This record gives sequence, C-alpha cells and structure tokens, in this order.
Amino acid sequence: MCGIVGYAGPRRASPILLEGLKRLEYRGYDSAGIAIGRGDGSLSSVRTVGKIQALKDAVPKDLGGTWGIGHTRWATHGGVTQANTHPHFDGSGKIAVVHNGIIENYRALREMLAKEGVVFTSETDTEVIPNLVARYYKGDLEAAVKAALVHLEGTYGIAVIHADEPGRIVGARNGSPLVVGVGEGETLLGSDVMAFISSTSRVVYLNDGEIVSLDPSGFRITDRSDSRVDRAADAVTWELGAIEKGEYPCFMEKEIFEQPDSIGRALGGRLDQDNATAKLGGLNLDRRYQRAVSRVNIIAAGTSWHASLVGAQLLESVARIPASADVASEVRYRNPVVERDSLWFAVSQSGETADTLYAMREIQRKGANVLGICNVVGSTIARESDGGVYVHSGPEIAVASTKAFTSQLAAFYLFTLHMARMRDMSRAEGERFLAGLAAVPDMIKTVLGRRDAIQAVAKKYSRRRDFLFLGRGLLYPIALEGALKLKEISYIHAEGYPAGEIKHGPIALVCPEVPTVFLVSDDGLREKVISNIREVKARGGPAIAVGVEGDKELEGIVDDFIPVPKMDSRFYPFTMVVPLQLFAYFCALDLGRDVDQPRNLAKSVTVE
Ligand code: M6R
Repeated sequence: MCGIVGYAGPRRASPILLEGLKRLEYRGYDSAGIAIGRGDGSLSSVRTVGKIQALKDAVPKDLGGTWGIGHTRWATHGGVTQANTHPHFDGSGKIAVVHNGIIENYRALREMLAKEGVVFTSETDTEVIPNLVARYYKGDLEAAVKAALVHLEGTYGIAVIHADEPGRIVGARNGSPLVVGVGEGETLLGSDVMAFISSTSRVVYLNDGEIVSLDPSGFRITDRSDSRVDRAADAVTWELGAIEKGEYPCFMEKEIFEQPDSIGRALGGRLDQDNATAKLGGLNLDRRYQRAVSRVNIIAAGTSWHASLVGAQLLESVARIPASADVASEVRYRNPVVERDSLWFAVSQSGETADTLYAMREIQRKGANVLGICNVVGSTIARESDGGVYVHSGPEIAVASTKAFTSQLAAFYLFTLHMARMRDMSRAEGERFLAGLAAVPDMIKTVLGRRDAIQAVAKKYSRRRDFLFLGRGLLYPIALEGALKLKEISYIHAEGYPAGEIKHGPIALVCPEVPTVFLVSDDGLREKVISNIREVKARGGPAIAVGVEGDKELEGIVDDFIPVPKMDSRFYPFTMVVPLQLFAYFCALDLGRDVDQPRNLAKSVTVE
C-alpha cells in the first residue's frame, strides 16, 4: 500500500523516480509526488492528485538533480488532495519525507510540535516525521532520523532527504517493507523491487527496526541498537517482460491467460512420479514432526483466503487432517488457541499483507510453526515464516488476483498429496492424484479457448446490479472468489454463498433482475445444486452455470451454460474459477472500468 522510490547516483533523478512510481502504481494510485535535491541547498518538488501520468505531465522535462525520493499514495489519513500528497516537508522546506504505514501517535506529536511553533500544512500523520527530523538535525541526517524515530509509534517505511546532504537518502523500516537496490555507481531504494527493477536486480531487504543510509557509492544498514548489519545482496530473477503488458490491453487479461504457464511453474520439479507424491523442498520440518501434525490452520486475506478455504477442505478430505482457514485480521485479535502438533500456514501473494503478517507473528509468538505460501520472493512473510512454498506465479500486477490464486491452489494440492502419502493414501491413489494435478494446465488452456463465449455471457449480464454466486464443497470458495472478482473490478454487488444455504435467507433476493451463477461439479453434490437451480428458476431468477462439459440436463435448465472439461472432480476449483475471472473481467470492460486499478483498492495492503 503506497509506493516508495529513491535514487542516488550520477543520472538525472526525475525520469528514474517517475519510472519507478509508474511500476509501483499498483500499490496505490490516488496521488503522487517527488522531491529532488538541486545541489544548491534547496529541493525541487512536484505533487499531483491522480495517477502517475498526471505527475509525469507536471514534472518539467529538464528537471535537474541527481538524488531524490518519490511516492504514490493510497490515502489513509486525510483526503486525496495535493496538500496531503507525499513528499512532506519540514517548515524550512529542506527536509523531505515519503512514508508508507500509519503513525498511530501522530496527534500527540502534532500537538507537541505545534507548541514548539511548527505549522502543519496537511492532514496527514506523515507530516510529523520531517518536523521531528528537523528538531534533531545538526548536520547529520542519519542521526536526526534515528532521534526522530524514537518518538514514532505505529508502522512505517520511510525515505528522507535533506537539501544540504547531496546524494544521501536515509530509509527506515518498521512494519512497511523497504528494499535497497544496488547498482553500478548508484543506489536505489524502494517499497518493493518493482521500484527499480529496470536499474538493478541486486537487492538487499531491510528488516523491521533497521535504518539504511545510502549514497551513490553504496549503503550502510544499522539496527535498533545502532550496530552495523552486514547483509549480502540477493538477485531478483524477474525478467522485465514479466512486468510488461506485452500484447494484452491490461495486466489482468495477461495474468488470466498466463495461468497454464504459472501453474506449470508452481508444479515444476515438485511432482515426484517415482514415489507418487509431491516434493516440497522448503518446508523445513522434519518428517517425524510432519507425521505428527494433528491439525492445520491457515490464515490469509481476500483471494488468498479463498485459496486457503479450498486447501483446508482438501487437507481434510484427502489427507484426513483436520484443517480450517480463517481471515487473518480476525485471528490476530481472537487470541487463538495454538495446539501442540498444529501446523499453521500464512498465505499471501504479496507476502506483505499487514493483517496476515501480524497474525503470523502472533501465532509464532505462541510457539507454533508457521509456513508461508507466497509469490513474492524475499517478501516479509516469506522471510519471517518458518519455511514454506513459493508459488512462482511471476509478478502479479493487476490489483485483482488471478494467477496467484490458481498457483496457491497448486501449492495446497501439492502439500495435501505430500501429507496424504505420509499417511493413508495408497500409491495407486497417489498416482491418480498426481495425474489429475499434472493435467490442470491443459484443462485451463481449454477453458481459456472459450474466451469469446464467456465474453458474450458477460455482455448479456454486465448491466445487472446484483449477483449471487453459489457452489458447494470445494466449489463454495470458488463462488466466494467469483463474487469477489466481480465486485472489485466491476463494482457490481455480488455475494458468494454455499448453495445449500440460500434457502436460509439469500433466496429472498432472487427475482428476474438478480442473476445467480452456479458452480456445478459432477460429484455427489451435483443433484443438490441442481435442486437449488430449480428453486431459483421457479422464482424467476436467471441462472448461469459453470458446469461439466456434456451435462445436458444442467445445460437444459439454466439460461447460460459455461462448460469446463470433465476431470477428477477434486480439481474443478482450478478450471471453474477461470470462467469467473473472465466473466468479471469482461463485465468490467463492458462497463468501462479501470480493470487493473479499480477504485479504492491497492495491490498490497500493508496497513491494518
Ligand atoms: O497479497 P495477499 O495475497 O496477501 O493479498 C490479500 C488480499 O488483499 C488480496 O487477495 C485481495 O483480496 C485481492 N485484491 C483480490 O483480488
């Protein structure tokens, strides 16, 4: 949430900062700004409301200065106005700060500083920071930032510059990510590696409580006790092409169509045909411990929670291990019981979601092992978890998560197979499960081939204001996911429900104006869902079904039918979610929405 970029080097800073902000735009896009050192004891600054393009248009093409900071905002404290846009400055205008996170005690700090004569120009919590730094500044920016940080309660990732310290940027992290980019004769800073991916792929991740002071020749990290931290640079393996739209009109469409490949990467090297099981190298748990696990608890948010709900059902039904998946923001404050021999998972595409991260830390504090299922390598959850599985989807840029979801599913299917084979699953059954999993990428290709038919269905319904999405068993979380996708990018109200539950209330919504999307498997629950469809049809509700190819009865009773290829029913979550992603996408497109950057949202939610 919110993006930070910083540059110190020999090149002109403004184009580099603007490019970094463009790549970070998915983290927040309501306003943006930059501050650049001029080298004459003053700073230049431009701040605009709206997307990065507005900032690009406003920045003079010849703006000089070789070090600076930039920020793209997702508003927390104070409305979307130019005055609230970062960077924020001290009274003298010499110190500039960009900040991600929330300073919880900012009101008390504002009062204290106001009594000392500081005049505030914004409604933000951030503005206390440059003024605190100014309070302590005696010619050493790093020392002044350290003194200022002592006052701050809450979360922050900050970058600070002073007009009188050419080439220097001081960054600090507590709860909001910061990464140093190590270039040739230049050093960069970002809230994630996207900020500087086209300049360098050598990165150093900061941990909470650490401060970095950087200049073109390098960087120095210190911790809370002021001890020097030596940390080698990691290499980022993402290719530039992976973060560009290529032939697609937007990232969401590109990411939906990448799924056969991204799932292939998640499964790559992990299908152990010789032993009819899955190989997961990063679990970091000895086999005896794994065998003794008596319960699995999963925490996550949004789409990752939906993948976790599928994972929990699978673990119970296939590996016969009691399992549940919970919303991380609830778990953290519930004082959860952490049973002996229970294993926990924190699932997060970004690996930075504050709710999931803080819940994970709380559970670790109680002594449990928490494994991560993450996409972003080097992210905080990936680094702080006790082991886990990278899903290798490649960068996911559209705010609506699609390919990360199916790769998270892949991780759960692999883990389930691994645990099941350590328990009661036979070799023959393991082989069947492996074959089903290996077939998923091709099955998804077939579904993607039905793009035009799905677009036609979306066109027919895109002007409806309310939708119901219903499924049972493994397809109930897919109904939740279909409803979430539709609401977040098209702004159409949609509710996901277990199909059997509609008679307990939601059926009151059924009428000719409210379509219901049914997910219909060919397992033992099919008949039950068909009955639900008849109940909806009897009340005049339009019914759309995503069902199994060749199901003529189903096709005959619904208004619109989207078939997926027949397969082992345990794998339908993969194929049935894809038509729902496309349906949401085409509805949003038809309504003229900004698909990649829907209103009010941001990709990585790093505040509570
Ligand atoms: O990065 P995470 O997987 O932790 O993100 C969790 C949610 O914020 C995320 O899935 C959100 O719901 C997406 N916008 C859904 O498309």
